Formats: sequence, C-alpha cells, structure tokens
Amino acid sequence: MTSAVPAQTSLPRHVAIIMDGNGRWAKKRHLPRAAGHVAGVAAVRNVVRAAIDIGLENLTLYAFSSENWKRPRTEVNHLMGLFRSYFCEDVNELVERNVRMRIIGSRDRVAIDIRTMIEDCERRTAANTGCNVTFAFDYGAQEEIAAAARAVAEEVRRGELDPARITPAVFAARLLTSELPDPDLIIRTSGERRLSNFLLWQAAYAELLFVDTLWPDFSRAQFIEALNTFSHRERRFGALAPEAVA
Ligand code: FPP
Repeated sequence: MTSAVPAQTSLPRHVAIIMDGNGRWAKKRHLPRAAGHVAGVAAVRNVVRAAIDIGLENLTLYAFSSENWKRPRTEVNHLMGLFRSYFCEDVNELVERNVRMRIIGSRDRVAIDIRTMIEDCERRTAANTGCNVTFAFDYGAQEEIAAAARAVAEEVRRGELDPARITPAVFAARLLTSELPDPDLIIRTSGERRLSNFLLWQAAYAELLFVDTLWPDFSRAQFIEALNTFSHRERRFGALAPEAVA
C-alpha cells in the first residue's frame, strides 16, 4: 500500500471520521482512559494538519456524541477540558491556515464557556476559504433529522412550504450540514463496524472504511492510505458500472 498522496482529482471531497478506540489504547498500556483521550487529541491535530496539507476540501470529526453524556462524570469532565484547550489553543493555527471551522450538534447542553469558545472559533474562521473542518460535538444524527423534520413541519404549518415540494434536497437544506457536501468517505477506527448515529442521512452513498487501528495510533500515513483505498473504490450511486452497460 502506497502512502503517496492521491492525485487531487481522486481525492474525496468530504471525509468524515468516527474516532474510536481511545479507551482501549490506554488500557493496552495500563493507563487511565484519560490518557487515551489526551493521545487522541494529538491524533486529531495530525489528521487536521494532513487534511490541510493535502488540500482536502472537507473534514468532519465525530468528537462527542449526544450519547457520550452517559459516560461517568469524571470522563465527561475530562473530555470537556480537552475540548476547551483545543478550541482555545488551536484556533490561531486554524485561522492562519485558512481553515473554516464549524461545530455541528446541540448547543443547549454544553457549558456556556464552551459554547462561547465554539462561537468564537466559528466567527474567527468564518471568512476563511480553505479546508472546512467540522467537529460533530454533542451530535446525534437522529436528533438532527428530527429537528429538520420539525423545521419542515413548522414551515408547512405557517403555509410557507407546500408538502408536495418536500424533496430530499429541501430536507437536506434543514440539516446541520446544509453547507457541506455529503461525505464521500467515512472512516471508523478501532475495528468497530457501526455508524453510531453519525451522519445517517448524509451517509447514503458514502464509502465506509473500517480500520483496526485505535484512534491515538491513526497517523498521517494511515490517513493518506485511507484516501488511497478510497481512490480505488468504484462508486455507482445506484447506477451500473460503465462496462456493465450494453
Ligand atoms: C472514542 O474512544 C472517542 C471519544 C468518545 C471521544 C473522541 C475524542 C477525542 C479524539 C479527543 C478530543 C478531541 C478533540 C477534537 C479535542 P472511546 O473512549 O470510546 O474508546 P474505547 O471504545 O476504546 O473505550
């Protein structure tokens, strides 16, 4: 497998990653789970920098799911501390590197200071035109879809939308990802083969890639390898491959 960067033309437009395996990475080393999350942040930095260097248009990272609140309070607090540091310390680099940063998810449950940081990151990078880096943070796809359904229903009730005109595109415009193309490639680390409530609508035609590497070990080279694997996948979007057409 080559670790050369695939040609610009064969790059996916949008890569989304389910970062999994921090806890197991720590356990293998007889370290507390918190150490796995700390190492996970370093992997986030590596992958974000690689995406920028390669010229990827869109990178979305599943940082904290709406179900992750069910974890022990100490772990949630530690993760929130890591998000605080990341949003506060890395934003300058992202601004300088022309990254547009977005956060998708519910903003009602996070601490007010984190919400302010998120808004600050989004505001400071809003005019940037390079890589779109999106963090799914307190995100759940079912909640997102239900909220879009509520928005559509409200518009119908107000007489602003004719139900006959509700198409997939009209619906997708009410999702949190309305400004992003659908992911072409979804990577999940740690050997688990699930989407875990991540981008369920948007994943309709995504290529799925499950790798055994635990997230803290997911390196720039492995990211490039994943992009190479993608460039060899045949995508048909429900149609036939050209050679199958008589
Ligand atoms: C899954 O590992 C990972 C998470 C629940 C959180 C992801 C968080 C990070 C990568 C670090 C912080 C990120 C940013 C953007 C600052 P797990 O704990 O479920 O691992 P396990 O399945 O092995 O227990």
